[in-house]
Amino acid sequence: MPREIITLQVGQCGNQVGIEFWKQLIKEHGINNEGILEEFALQGDDRKDVFFYQADDEHYIPRALLIDMEPRVINYIQTSQFSTLFNPENIFISKDGGGAGNNWACGYSQGERYQEELMEMIDREADGSDSLEGFLMLHSIAGGTGSGSGSYILERLNDRFPKKIIQTYSVFPNQNETSDVVVQPYNSLLTLRRLAQNADAVVVLDNTALNRIAVDRLKIPIPTVSQTNSLVAMVMAASTTTLRYPGYMNNDLVSILAGLVPTPRCHFLMTGYTPLTIDRHISSVRKTTVLDVMRRLLQTKNIMVSTSTKNGNYISILNIIQGDVDATQIHKSLQRIRERKLASFIEWGPTSIQVALSKKSPYIETSHKVSGLMLANHTSIHSLFDRILKQYHKLRNRNAFLDQYKKEPMFKDSLDEFDESRECLESLISEYKAAESKNYLDWGNDDNMRIEEQQ
Ligand code: GTP
Repeated sequence: MPREIITLQVGQCGNQVGIEFWKQLIKEHGINNEGILEEFALQGDDRKDVFFYQADDEHYIPRALLIDMEPRVINYIQTSQFSTLFNPENIFISKDGGGAGNNWACGYSQGERYQEELMEMIDREADGSDSLEGFLMLHSIAGGTGSGSGSYILERLNDRFPKKIIQTYSVFPNQNETSDVVVQPYNSLLTLRRLAQNADAVVVLDNTALNRIAVDRLKIPIPTVSQTNSLVAMVMAASTTTLRYPGYMNNDLVSILAGLVPTPRCHFLMTGYTPLTIDRHISSVRKTTVLDVMRRLLQTKNIMVSTSTKNGNYISILNIIQGDVDATQIHKSLQRIRERKLASFIEWGPTSIQVALSKKSPYIETSHKVSGLMLANHTSIHSLFDRILKQYHKLRNRNAFLDQYKKEPMFKDSLDEFDESRECLESLISEYKAAESKNYLDWGNDDNMRIEEQQ
């Protein structure tokens, strides 16, 4: 059973990141830009059918839906060298074509307006799978379409497919660029509520950290969007590698997430990758033992989220190691990390550090023997949410830029949606902070305890 996964790319960022992801995937599976399997890849023992379906013997089509409320990025894809890669029936561009103007409410309304067409596309793609495992959504949380329409789609997916996994790759805005999107704290807050309530796992990709990594680690003075997107594509490809080249563990999303997300709401994951190389910028790597890779993955500078893992605790870690490695090296490295206490873990559960050894694509040459991706659940992620909340309060206290939101039905009569989303985010922050204490498993039972005491 292939356990198929459908990818939904929503908005400019979602589609730009998405195309980089597919570029990487077709390369890894020996598929050319038109979707035709190369002759050298005919005998491959990889599982292409998780992410692609076979139109005919050699023709593979991504299980991807490309959704945007303005045509620019998708038109670009359709006129590029990947013009025939995607199923044209899986492309949705709104008839208005005006985008969502960086307004979550406008994106959400458009999602609602076009729900029939969108859900029909999703249903058709789901019906084309034998044993659908779930959905991956790629989007940014700061604009209008990826955040607003993305939020609407997440809600509907949850209603329609309650038993399927919903994982997102969510791009958080750059905190250092004030010019980015002025209302990004509003859009981010409203989206975070849906990510907290309607997704099983969220892989946080943070533009602040991606830029820092490109500048500091890859020595690119002014990174382009396409360069940071290559980083994202590398992380996404690595995080799905055990699904595409299965071993005997971690070969479906459920088993990956089961270890990473022990309590349902704390499901925001950070990533780290080493050694980092994009484009022609091959970083010089001297040693690539497993221990080196695992040690580097724990360093804050390699983590693609702008929080410091020196504060707080790891709830869980999954390292996906690719390359020429034998299992004893892994056990030894794990032991060393535990002995030296290189990572600080929560006290309310077992030290959950798992390692999955995964095959590499035989069709891509790399300059290093071992590479590694870390997916980690760490309590310090709350500092990212703290920042968004703080910025939200700054705008909201002045009731700034609310007019555009009030034009949309959801905000016409009241701004309750903002307050409810704020409460949701506050509660999420409190839960992550509580997870740093020994008594976390009792957290949230306070009200019950108080009621019991009163009786
Ligand atoms: P509208 O433009 O309002 O219709 O919504 P949208 O979802 O298409 O907007 P967009 O995806 O452009 O969201 C804006 C946010 O995404 C900003 O924080 C940008 O910095 C970020 N962003 C846009 N494109 C990319 C991209 O290709 N890569 C990365 N990493 N970030 C991007």
